[in-house]
Amino acid sequence: MPVPVPRSFLWGAATSPHQVEGNNTASDLWAIENMPGSPLPERSGDACDHYHRWREDLDILRDLGLNAYRFGVEWARIEPVPGQISRAALDHYRRMIEGCLSRGITPVVTLHHFTSPAWFRHGGGWTGADGVKQFAAYARTVRPILDGVPWVVTINEPNMLAMVAARLDRDAPDLVAGALPPPDQQVASALIEAHHAARSSLGSIASGWTVANQTFQGVSVDEWAWPREDQFIDAARDDDFIGVQAYTRVVLGPDGPVPPSGRRTGNGWEFYPGALEAAVRHTASRVSVPILVTENGIATSDDADRQEYTGLALAGLGRAVADGIDVRGYLHWSLLDNYEWGSWAHTFGLVAVDRTTFRRTVKPSAHWYGALARTGELP
Ligand code: BGC
Repeated sequence: MPVPVPRSFLWGAATSPHQVEGNNTASDLWAIENMPGSPLPERSGDACDHYHRWREDLDILRDLGLNAYRFGVEWARIEPVPGQISRAALDHYRRMIEGCLSRGITPVVTLHHFTSPAWFRHGGGWTGADGVKQFAAYARTVRPILDGVPWVVTINEPNMLAMVAARLDRDAPDLVAGALPPPDQQVASALIEAHHAARSSLGSIASGWTVANQTFQGVSVDEWAWPREDQFIDAARDDDFIGVQAYTRVVLGPDGPVPPSGRRTGNGWEFYPGALEAAVRHTASRVSVPILVTENGIATSDDADRQEYTGLALAGLGRAVADGIDVRGYLHWSLLDNYEWGSWAHTFGLVAVDRTTFRRTVKPSAHWYGALARTGELP
């Protein structure tokens, strides 16, 4: 049975700056990508040139019938050198926000999506002496351009960040949550503090953060989930909303995560669209704040898989909504085929991007999703 959602429900798609903009040269990850013997197999380079082509991308989103766009502002562009603010970068992002508003697209803006300025990392990052203060100051710098933005994400997937960050210099990061060690608790605590400090910097602007939900199942779920996920969900209890991001599940056996045996997605994760419903229910069981699905999607070269996965995930979301869970929107990951943290091989996009000409090609799944959005009902 289709589940009607209010007209205000956000039907959209998401990106992050480093993955789509191109030439994020002052960032820590750019330095790692380009260092001799980099552990990352491929570089972001020009990425999708979204920094210059965002108007075209917003037009595509609007023409599909979608009404929301989650994107990020890049700290390394706004503050490439400590304390030196790029007015031009702030103006750029303000134009993007206005570009959304003028097209009837609700902007959802992320302040930090995995990458930091290289200087921040060199100075000790989140656990550096001034780490929390520096992030709070950055949030204060961005605040004046956020007029009209109803949803601001301080930090994307702090739990992933805490699990991956420590390994980035040494190994290629593996974003399969179950494969990662528990976060360094000092980093986790600093991220929680930075989040709360940034929320204060943002004043009356509605803010929250987005947690990577890993849908742990099997044995010792609570012990496993607390350091990797639940402490970050619980830290959102006084926020204006929480972002739920879900892709797959992690099944735990007595010796930890059990490799998936069934159908897999293009990047090796289990094809498990039920992750979204489980993640939304899990989040709602821990905190009573509105939920925005800020990421959900699939890496695949077969677009029919994307439609199948997304349809099933949205049906699960519909069941959660029908049960009264306060979900305000769904932002598919991703609008564009983009730089998947070290590789271009795994495509999550509703829209393909030619790596040489930057030409955009809208995939059938995007048309299907846009048509669904226009019905105003979850399947
Ligand atoms: C991240 C995205 C990433 C996606 C797929 C999330 O962990 O926020 O940046 O591309 O998952 O791996």
